[in-house]
Amino acid sequence: MATPRLNALGRHLAVAGFMGAGKSTVGTELARRLGRAFVDLDAEIVRRSGREVVDLFAELGESGFRALEESTARDVLDAAEPVVVALGGGAVLPASTRELLARHAFTILLEVDPDVAWARARESGRPLARDEAAFRALHAARRPVYEAVADARARDVDEALLHAAGIHVGVGSTEELADLVPGEGAVEIVIDRHVAGIHGVSVQLALGSRDVAVHEVPGGEEAKTAAVLERLWRSLRIGRDGVVVAVGGGTTTDVTGFAAATYMRGVPWVPVPTTLVGQVDAAIGGKTAVDLPGAKNLVGAFHWPHRVVVDPALLETLPDGERRNGLAEVVKTGLLAGQPLWELPEPAQVRACAVFKGAVCLADPHDRGARAQLNLGHTFAHALEAAADYALPHGHAVALGLLAALRLSGLHEECRTVERLLRPALAHVDREAAWRALARDKKAADGRPRLVLLDAPGRPRWGVELPEADVRAALDELIAS
Ligand SMILES: NC(=O)c1ccc[n+]([C@@H]2O[C@H](COP(=O)([O-])OP(=O)(O)OC[C@H]3O[C@@H](n4cnc5c(N)ncnc54)[C@H](O)[C@@H]3O)[C@@H](O)[C@H]2O)c1
Repeated sequence: MATPRLNALGRHLAVAGFMGAGKSTVGTELARRLGRAFVDLDAEIVRRSGREVVDLFAELGESGFRALEESTARDVLDAAEPVVVALGGGAVLPASTRELLARHAFTILLEVDPDVAWARARESGRPLARDEAAFRALHAARRPVYEAVADARARDVDEALLHAAGIHVGVGSTEELADLVPGEGAVEIVIDRHVAGIHGVSVQLALGSRDVAVHEVPGGEEAKTAAVLERLWRSLRIGRDGVVVAVGGGTTTDVTGFAAATYMRGVPWVPVPTTLVGQVDAAIGGKTAVDLPGAKNLVGAFHWPHRVVVDPALLETLPDGERRNGLAEVVKTGLLAGQPLWELPEPAQVRACAVFKGAVCLADPHDRGARAQLNLGHTFAHALEAAADYALPHGHAVALGLLAALRLSGLHEECRTVERLLRPALAHVDREAAWRALARDKKAADGRPRLVLLDAPGRPRWGVELPEADVRAALDELIAS
């Protein structure tokens, strides 16, 4: 089998599978989540020909229909703008279509149980779903073709989104690292020194079959400095066929990702986040950075990971304070998604947040649009952190920032939810310093901050400019007098 593609970044997302798998339903939702156009290949054939599939089959015979399907697939897959395309059950049969998929698409095989497929397809009046025995025989015969063309398999939208973003989530997945780190080349592990003492041995054992070197970095923001970055540049030895594996929280993955983005003008990297912040946020979406004195994340790059391996079991050793930092991001994600994700058990919570962030970032990999919503509450949080000279824990600042954004959105019940879940005490910072920092925020236009507000949970609006007095009042309300 050819090397599978790793994600749908800049490529079409093709949904393949048997009749009745639900390709159109799943494809429509994937397109909505990824902000892409949706093409249902059968519907496109009908649109172009002005005839129904049943009539085309009757008129042209199966081979005539397949030729039409092949040329329509070629037009769709040759187009530059990435779309989500649902392929008809037989569309992957021609070798030329399979080659185009390999070149231009990330293909997901939508799995379906033959009984479910038959129950759905028999109602549809499709030409190849008139006889159950023939239908089941066709299902068995086509399976190897689907498997050969698939880069990943999924049963639902969430699973498909995780694959499309190149994210693997699973309790215990650290043990599978040798298989999950793509390629066969050498591996360089960059690991938080503290985490190395806890999980380092299991990570190394898991990668034992690969040629491995290990580099330790400090925990906390101390890792995100030019000095640590230079040390990494000097100590990395891999070529472009190697992979850098980052094991630690968001500071480790940020600095390692930036080292991977810049070393030899870019080598593959795989974050293995070990904090809740890392698993639900920092390791996902390909933003990497280091800090300059007084300027967090000022120097960085977009460098999409070859795979993100999220193992919620690694969180068992996380101190409570770090978990609280992560919970603030979980609450933010739940508010953006319009679902109380914080009520889920931790592994499901992590997975749901990874799905959400992965989809938003895949829709907007370079932060030019929809990704701005991820800043909900963060404009205020950054201002408070800066005014506190970063002595305020990030989760605390985000919790306060969420309160401000929700108050300005008029969502009082959600304010109470944030207060109940995160219990943020007012910040002891200088009001003027916080206000100056807010006006300096990277997302401010002409000194006027652009905010993310919610019309309702699940309905974010970004780039919102409000009267200065309202923003200032919302900030003041977060600060102890
Ligand atoms: N790139 C992005 O999109 C993005 C998004 C959000 C945040 N970030 C960045 O992430 C950073 C914050 O990340 P963080 O909150 O993970 O902090 P961190 O990386 O500093 O980790 C927090 C602490 O937890 C310890 N730790 C990590 N994993 C552990 C484990 N499993 N068991 C016990 N201890 C463990 C670390 O040693 C450290 O002391 C910030 O620099 C922020 O800018 C980046």
